[in-house]
Amino acid sequence: MNKKTICDIDVAGRRVLVRVDFNVPLDKETMRILDDTRIRAALPTISYLREQNAKIVLVSHLGRPDGKVVESARLAPVAARLAELLGVPVPCATDVVGASANAVVAALQPGDVAMLENVRFEPGEELNDPALAKQLAAFADVFVNDAFGTAHRPHASTAGIAASLPAVAGLLMEKEIDYLGRIVSNPQPPVAAIIGGAKISSKIAVLQHLLSKVSVLLIGGGMASTFLKARGIGVGSSLIEADQVATAQKVITDAGRAGVKLGLPIDVVVADRFAADAATRTIDIHNVPEGWMILDIGPKTVADYESRLRGVKTVVWNGPLGVAEWPPFAHGSHAVARFLAKLDATVVIGGGETVAMVTELGLASEYAHVSTGGGASLEFLEGKELPGVAALLDR
Ligand code: 3PG
Repeated sequence: MNKKTICDIDVAGRRVLVRVDFNVPLDKETMRILDDTRIRAALPTISYLREQNAKIVLVSHLGRPDGKVVESARLAPVAARLAELLGVPVPCATDVVGASANAVVAALQPGDVAMLENVRFEPGEELNDPALAKQLAAFADVFVNDAFGTAHRPHASTAGIAASLPAVAGLLMEKEIDYLGRIVSNPQPPVAAIIGGAKISSKIAVLQHLLSKVSVLLIGGGMASTFLKARGIGVGSSLIEADQVATAQKVITDAGRAGVKLGLPIDVVVADRFAADAATRTIDIHNVPEGWMILDIGPKTVADYESRLRGVKTVVWNGPLGVAEWPPFAHGSHAVARFLAKLDATVVIGGGETVAMVTELGLASEYAHVSTGGGASLEFLEGKELPGVAALLDR
């Protein structure tokens, strides 16, 4: 990575403001954290700073409170979980830059960790307001951005603050950029991409960017129906993006020209309605009945995709291959996840739903890298510069 990290700057005994992405899923009723992956992922940076006796101020957002205080989006449960993981108290301010934040920061001793309140309670955060950035900067001598998941947002706590403080990457940010950067710029060939999820429109930029990098491109999820339609195959009542059929056709043509082996479903699981308990059938792709919709890839497609993946050395996967949160339509995604866990290749997984799925299967540790970024990992793979990274000091 061509950006400085916490290892390149003197943090010993200094006040360090660390932007983390603790935007974790919470149970709305109990406020229980459903998945603490993002909190655990920040531990290496926090532990390093504690070893250096830094005074650590963490800042994160949670959800989209839109510049207002929303009680259910307070960070206290997140601070409590972090305290459990670290085995030390983590006081959490009840405001972002007010009296409570001032008191919490002023009380920090070397090696202590505290959190500010949800930074998106401040209207200036998403506006990248320089006044808010300066108020945040006043809490510290050094800014560390470890929030890869939010690095695609040009906000006060991710980008603006870097104007007022020396700004470096945390260890999670460094790891994300190293793994994803290798996929973009220097992957070990042959390279395969598996792209799923509901919509072509949200993935088209990444599809086009990856075409020049991969030799195998496998398509699944809702977007496969639009590709099948572009091929002239009947998809029953599957949801397609009518305005993206031409785009899908262009991807098919460009893949052919670039010598990319494009995989589309050859059999599918169809349902009589969009529901977890719908009636289902597994059928050849040319037999999708009118009124039925495709909700997963079938076993022949899984076998076909596995045979195309044998021998590749790098795989990037973003987006489930079916409606993976409903068990009857999760088989395709689960089978491919298990296959990739054993494949002798560098496998990088991104995208919130795909990451949640492999985490639930207990497979996350089997891959080279599971990204904490959803939108951020997608934008990175599109070749875009992320504002939260651009703002950091060059090496
Ligand atoms: C994410 O979950 O992708 C990040 O935390 C960014 O959240 P946002 O999409 O609300 O900006």
